[in-house]
Amino acid sequence: MNNNPYEPILAEIVEIKDEAVGERPIKTFRFSLKDEEAKKNFSFIPGQCVMVSLFGTGECFFVISSSPTKKDYIEVSVLKLGKVTSELHQSEVGDIVGIRGPYGNHFDIDNWEGKNILFIGGGIGQAPLRSILNYTLDNRDKYNDLSIIYGARTTKDLCYKDEFANFKDRDDIEVHLSIDVEEEGWNDFVGFVPDNLKRVNPSPENTIAITCGPPIMIKYVLENLVELGFSDEQIYTTLEMRMKCGIGFCGRCNIGNLYVCKDGPVFSYKQLKNLEGDM
Ligand SMILES: Cc1cc2nc3c(=O)[nH]c(=O)nc-3n(C[C@H](O)[C@H](O)[C@H](O)COP(=O)(O)OP(=O)(O)OC[C@H]3O[C@@H](n4cnc5c(N)ncnc54)[C@H](O)[C@@H]3O)c2cc1C
Ligand code: FES
Repeated sequence: MNNNPYEPILAEIVEIKDEAVGERPIKTFRFSLKDEEAKKNFSFIPGQCVMVSLFGTGECFFVISSSPTKKDYIEVSVLKLGKVTSELHQSEVGDIVGIRGPYGNHFDIDNWEGKNILFIGGGIGQAPLRSILNYTLDNRDKYNDLSIIYGARTTKDLCYKDEFANFKDRDDIEVHLSIDVEEEGWNDFVGFVPDNLKRVNPSPENTIAITCGPPIMIKYVLENLVELGFSDEQIYTTLEMRMKCGIGFCGRCNIGNLYVCKDGPVFSYKQLKNLEGDM
């Protein structure tokens, strides 16, 4: 058994899927842990993250985008941004990476049983929402109404398109997609995610709203949720800070006396308001 918290366990890339193919490419990587015992013992709750290492290049922190109901693998969806993420985008099926984790807190899936869940995502921000969304779908009888409001800049930037297409055929989940500017053949909403939220006009009654996406989107989504009557305790989001250790040692990711890697990434709007002076 390994006692070094920085030592990763080995995982093989068993599937790579192109999600967004525009100027900001996103791919979903499926990892299978090499060691059967480690695979059996690895468990997580939606919202939690892993540190993925590319040997000789570096490490990156990613939220797990698959559901814990899928026991054989974990998936992360990665936006190509800098050194590590660009190299990961060059990887091929069969390549070996290192994984540390799971880290951080998580969505309160047990306390939210019996509630309506509203998922509001933008771009790569759908990654943490995908994990809890698929978890609630795999435990459909435990949750009430499920609705998704998701948008990206263009159709090329939309993630998980085939999954959303499947949801549209189901009558137990509502899907409201958007792109920022008109495109030929697009029949859903055109405009920003916060405006689509206003148009959909969800009821706050017995509802938890979770929003993840670019900071500017989150800012207006939060304002609109409050205007719709959601209380600060009904709204959750995830925060992103630059990370190093991922385990609350290095102090790189602190906001006030909290570490995003350990005490986050999931925060309620009520907690965020208390942290405002420290951000
Ligand atoms: C809790 C958490 C969850 C995350 N989940 C995901 C995820 O699911 N998918 C995903 O694609 N990314 C996710 N990220 C971000 C991811 O860790 C960074 O994008 C990644 O570290 C960039 O690494 P890089 O080596 O490719 O870029 P670098 O070469 O390190 O940086 C390239 C540029 O991006 C900027 N940058 C890098 N990281 C961040 C950051 N965290 N916030 C703002 N600017 C940054 C740098 O300042 C630099 O300008 C998450 C981050 C956190 C903290
Ligand atoms: S990344 Fe080191 S304390 Fe959070």
